[in-house]
Amino acid sequence: MAVVESSTKVVLGGTRGGPDVSTLRKDRWWLQPVITTSVLTAFVIYSTWAAFQNKNYYVGAIFHRDLVSPFYSPCLAASCPTGSTAGFILHGWALSPALIILIFPLGFRLTCYYYRRSYYRAFWWSPPACAVADSHASYSGETRFPLIMQNAHRYFFYAGLVFNTLLTYDAIRAFHQPGLGWGVTVGTVVLSVNAVLLWLYSLSCHACRHLCGGGSNSFAAHPLRYRFWKFLTPLNAKHMNFAWSSLVFVALTDVYVRLVASGALTDFKLF
Ligand code: FES
Repeated sequence: MAVVESSTKVVLGGTRGGPDVSTLRKDRWWLQPVITTSVLTAFVIYSTWAAFQNKNYYVGAIFHRDLVSPFYSPCLAASCPTGSTAGFILHGWALSPALIILIFPLGFRLTCYYYRRSYYRAFWWSPPACAVADSHASYSGETRFPLIMQNAHRYFFYAGLVFNTLLTYDAIRAFHQPGLGWGVTVGTVVLSVNAVLLWLYSLSCHACRHLCGGGSNSFAAHPLRYRFWKFLTPLNAKHMNFAWSSLVFVALTDVYVRLVASGALTDFKLF
């Protein structure tokens, strides 16, 4: 028996779909792009401001603490306060030490597959949401400069692992309070949570999952990789959550260190 197919042609509007109707969606599809735009814009403004401050990024021995802001770690400039340096100094750098390292975490976030989806939607409207017309007349994907640079994500991922290791070291170091010995303060908890969230963000990365499980036709031949892949896959499903929580928390960590360093807040010892 012949199957008769019938279909109703749906014509969307917008630049590439026609002049009148940009979407048939009746829900609040615009809410997600609005939230994305607001949070990312707030983060960029705050982190730029913090990176240029060049002060109050380290709580040192004078406060019996060893807390460094993640925006300034590793602190590589000769101007870095004693105790905050990473053991290697870049002589001749007169600007804020945050500007030396900013490119790595920034590059990692900017080229992240999840953030790409988010900011292409939120800022480029390309398209702003599923089943909503694109606002651009043409689409070349990521095949040309500058968007072809997004392919560098894997290399930023490697750099991110180095930064996570350094920030984990900072968190462990914070448990030692100069002149007082070992203990736990609110600051140590803040730095530790920050390091954990950054690890979760990196380990849930799509490039990380591909590195562990991709490029192989048989898991049986690679049992260790299979184990990694099995461990990373559920994390990968939550990559969006880790992307947002780590982004917000890294800024909050800088705020906390800044408040304590400036004397506006006391870093309470818990035990
Ligand atoms: S895909 Fe988001 S960090 Fe790699």
